[in-house]
Amino acid sequence: MIQVESLTKHRSGVPVLDAVSMAGEEGGVTALVGPSGSGKSTLLRCLNGLDCFEAGAVSIAGHRLAPGSNPGGVLEALRRDVGMVFQQFNLFPHLSVLDNVTLAPRTVLKTPAAEARSRAVDLLDRVGLKSFAAARPATLSGGQQQRVAIARALAMQPRVMLFDEPTSALDPKMTAEVLDVIVDLAKAGQTMVVVTHDHGFAKRAATWVVELAAGKVARQGTAAEML
Ligand SMILES: Nc1ncnc2c1ncn2[C@@H]1O[C@H](COP(=O)(O)OP(=O)(O)OP(=O)(O)O)[C@@H](O)[C@H]1O
Ligand SMILES: [Mg+2]
Repeated sequence: MIQVESLTKHRSGVPVLDAVSMAGEEGGVTALVGPSGSGKSTLLRCLNGLDCFEAGAVSIAGHRLAPGSNPGGVLEALRRDVGMVFQQFNLFPHLSVLDNVTLAPRTVLKTPAAEARSRAVDLLDRVGLKSFAAARPATLSGGQQQRVAIARALAMQPRVMLFDEPTSALDPKMTAEVLDVIVDLAKAGQTMVVVTHDHGFAKRAATWVVELAAGKVARQGTAAEML
């Protein structure tokens, strides 16, 4: 489902990813770990074409990214199949929780409103927030907002979900709520790549762990081997 071959990316002439190779199986959960500045977010952004790269290749969910800028059509098709959840939840503040979740299916996939709504209610139920459908994001806790962001990404029925430190802005209780949702997704067979500093969570959820150090893969292996 995910194949990264000798991915190399420079910023201001300095390599931030240096011949990184890794793979992720369908239904697998890959944890990306490593110190601050090691290139975890950059790698994740390269996986869905938010960042371009100078050498190597990325294949993900049947889409292939090449060095340099990729045609808009390739990126659009890729992003339908690859969802991303960020550290900051980035919900649309002027829309209700429900409308945040239905917006992309309605506008991008042209899903009829009633169907998008019923799917969104199911997804909000799955993340424990069905009763918040009519609320505005600002009235929710950080953990609740992050769970809405996860429901919003899932609404596109992505083949792969990417998470960049999804709990780093949250206190321990809210962190646990969000991690439980991600563990449930893992159990349901959702292919994911998760950047995390939380080794306990990685042990619970990850099938494969990739450790970056200074832009290179320092080690990779099963969670049991690595952590
Ligand atoms: N927009 C940018 N412009 C220039 N350099 C950048 C930019 N974003 C990141 N970098 C540099 O690229 C390197 C990798 O950064 P990246 O954000 O991928 O690290 P990270 O492993 O995600 O770190 P953290 O754990 O702190 O989030 C760092 O040296 C960083 O300073
Ligand atoms: Mg980062």
